[in-house]
Amino acid sequence: MHPLATIAARAIERRHDLLTRLHADGTDCYRLLHGIAEGAPGLTLDRYGPLLLAQTFRDPLPGAVIDGLCAAVRDATGLDLEIVHNHRGAPSAAHVADHEPTATALAEHVCREGPVRFVVQARHRGQDPWLFLDLRAGRRAVRGLATGRRVLNLFAYTCGVGVAAAVAGAATVQNVDFAQSALEVGRRNAAANGIAADRFTTLHSDCLPVLRQLAGQPVQRRGRHVPFVRIDAQPFDLIVLDPPRLARSRFGTVDVVRDYPSLWKPCLLALAPGGAVLATNHVPEVAESDWHQVLRKSAEKAGRPLRSLEPIAVDDDFPSFDGRPPLKVVLATV
Ligand SMILES: C[S@@+](CC[C@H](N)C(=O)[O-])C[C@H]1O[C@@H](n2cnc3c(N)ncnc32)[C@H](O)[C@@H]1O
Repeated sequence: MHPLATIAARAIERRHDLLTRLHADGTDCYRLLHGIAEGAPGLTLDRYGPLLLAQTFRDPLPGAVIDGLCAAVRDATGLDLEIVHNHRGAPSAAHVADHEPTATALAEHVCREGPVRFVVQARHRGQDPWLFLDLRAGRRAVRGLATGRRVLNLFAYTCGVGVAAAVAGAATVQNVDFAQSALEVGRRNAAANGIAADRFTTLHSDCLPVLRQLAGQPVQRRGRHVPFVRIDAQPFDLIVLDPPRLARSRFGTVDVVRDYPSLWKPCLLALAPGGAVLATNHVPEVAESDWHQVLRKSAEKAGRPLRSLEPIAVDDDFPSFDGRPPLKVVLATV
């Protein structure tokens, strides 16, 4: 057996209890090998419903090794999945043929997380297959408290968290992102779950001016004539804040290492009394306790001290054996 196939088999064995729980609640999308933490840096194996997606991020792997890995997955799980190999680093000339997308890679598939259905596609113009598996615990937490709530989903991407909220019975879900193509997938996700259009909206906009307007703050922009989407002040019971590490726009900079408060404070100000924010920080170098301190301090400064700050642990298919998980999630109430 190729050493990578042995590593994959061990990783699946380690997930035995988790996979049993996930299968029991109808979930069929999860990470089977998180290479960076499990002895195979630059390699991940993910199941997305009927697909087994093998991704390489450093050196491409020969087709025979990928086949061996997939055989190991089939033996360890008993699942017969359609295989897609996606190389996300620079391909070497020898492997170019392996990177021609197959019909399976270009087709749209559906996977499930409990009662929620998500459309996924392994290869398209963007990079990720439309659903971030590591945020499952966050979506689960949102499902647990979304019923009857007015939800704002910022940096929504394909609206994964918003769709989970709507399926759980949210009164309304407003999803905001500046990538129209991601929101289009979000609308398909909503349709795949039969969510009525009057409960689920997508707003194609930069999040920064939206957030500042909702918080009653003046919009900052690089130039007086830069247009922005106007939005009426309105209360939200639950805000989802899942920003990228760093993004610059005509309305400022998202920088979750140096300046989380510039996103966090307006979120707290836009909350209805008794509301909650589910927030994330994806930066591995930021220690969880330091980030929590920033959240508490800036909430006090904003005049909205936190009543609670509950960390939400990422599921075990994204293990971090050094106690410093890259993705940190909290649920905070005011
Ligand atoms: C990490 S993804 C968010 C993932 C998403 N929350 C989910 O559940 O799958 C980051 C998203 O932020 C969007 N984005 C980055 N900067 C933005 C900005 N200033 N305004 C609006 N969207 C932004 C990107 O288009 C991308 O879809």
